Amino acid sequence: MTSVTAGSALAPPPGPAAGGELPRLLPPAGRAAGLAAHLGRHGPVPYRGRARALIGDLRAAGLTGRGGAAFPVHRKLEAVAAARPGRAIVAGNGAEGEPASHKDEALLHGAPHLVLDGLQLAAEAVGASRAILYVRRDVRARTRLDAQLPPRRARGLDRVPVELVSAPARFLAGEESALASLVSGGAAVPRFTPPRVFARGVDGRPTLVQNVETLAHLALIARYGAGWFRRLGEPEEPGTMLCTLHQADGSVTVAEAAIGTPLTALLDLDLSRVSAVLAGGYHGAWIPAGRAAGLTLSNAALRPLGAFTGAGVLAALPADRCGLAETARVARYLALESAGQCGPCRSGLPSIAAAMGDLAGLAGAGGRGGGRGPDPRALAHLTRWAGLVEGRGACHHPDGTVRFLRSALRVFDGEVREHQHGRCGARSGRPFLPVPAGPSTDEDWS
Ligand SMILES: Cc1cc2nc3c(=O)[nH]c(=O)nc-3n(C[C@H](O)[C@H](O)[C@H](O)COP(=O)(O)O)c2cc1C
Ligand code: SF4
Repeated sequence: MTSVTAGSALAPPPGPAAGGELPRLLPPAGRAAGLAAHLGRHGPVPYRGRARALIGDLRAAGLTGRGGAAFPVHRKLEAVAAARPGRAIVAGNGAEGEPASHKDEALLHGAPHLVLDGLQLAAEAVGASRAILYVRRDVRARTRLDAQLPPRRARGLDRVPVELVSAPARFLAGEESALASLVSGGAAVPRFTPPRVFARGVDGRPTLVQNVETLAHLALIARYGAGWFRRLGEPEEPGTMLCTLHQADGSVTVAEAAIGTPLTALLDLDLSRVSAVLAGGYHGAWIPAGRAAGLTLSNAALRPLGAFTGAGVLAALPADRCGLAETARVARYLALESAGQCGPCRSGLPSIAAAMGDLAGLAGAGGRGGGRGPDPRALAHLTRWAGLVEGRGACHHPDGTVRFLRSALRVFDGEVREHQHGRCGARSGRPFLPVPAGPSTDEDWS
């Protein structure tokens, strides 16, 4: 059983107004901030009084999306702001479909008003007339958020009414076209693009979709400015980000860290206990622990190794587990999570997951397992099929899955050879990476 701690494990307060130290987003003591505490710490929503006015500050701040792709925020706002006034829609994406991520949950619990302020400021910046907060389906979290809205309305903080929409607990439900489809009355499955949602999203209207953490940063930049935002982080990747940290001892915490922080300050990377680090979640990549120990939390450091910061998931694989078995379990989950709309997902991912299961010798992972010995063709199948699905899906799901699998073949190449001879050096079969209990059903898409 793991626990999630909201709060910075890295550095103490004070907060933004006092000097830019951590934590910026999460409440200092890790306690949920109600409206009075939020207003006391940050003051009222700093509306600019006209559309687009905030966009220059966001460009100067260099804020990028924290939902995974690190796309420059000002560019999306500019695209949506070009729509006819009042036609645009803004959506805060808190679906957090990635099972290993808890940072949006921690943020929405700890600092919901920062997210709601960001939603309003983004709505003003693009001239939107509708604001949606899309959050993982969880009755308690939803009830808590519902209770935050009336006091804001009563104080006149929200100029655009906020609609709360529940996202199904599916890996793909947070993909932006899946969000647009669900809010428009359809199923939460990705759709073929283009047009991108910023051009034609919810109900066919231009829709700005930003991760909830991105909106919280936006709300702070609107208050404290681009220079303040850049006081932490790297010149090319400024600011902080929330990370979900899975330590090898099984503990899970959410921490806010400056971009550029050494990974050793976030994860215990004792090489006698950790064999590899997963960076960027289930569409990310494995890195050998020895290499990870010399890296920082930044795309500049991670990309040469095929990984990226993504939505901030970092996991230290215990040295007694099998990296191939871990990868095979996740691959099976990812294959089952596909919406099955396109060929690469319908037939490609299940076959790839089955081959990975065969290689890992994992019973029940789509592979033969169960003492039947390794399939000598598994690696060849895996490599060939991975090449066939890449770049062929309507969304990024097959590519992300293949990146994750390829990194496992690279990083665990010694284990691959052992497994091909029917051997596995793992001392524990206990699963490490979280995978929801399945199987999922069709109606979970709505
Ligand atoms: C398969 C898939 C799943 C995604 N899930 C999420 C999610 O759960 N939450 C999220 O904010 N973004 C998710 N995204 C990214 C969104 O499509 C979108 O880029 C993001 O919400 C934009 O916000 P940002 O620019 O602030 O990061 C996902 C993308 C893909 C391809
Ligand atoms: S690539 Fe896969 S997940 Fe993406 S839309 Fe097609 S079937 Fe769905």
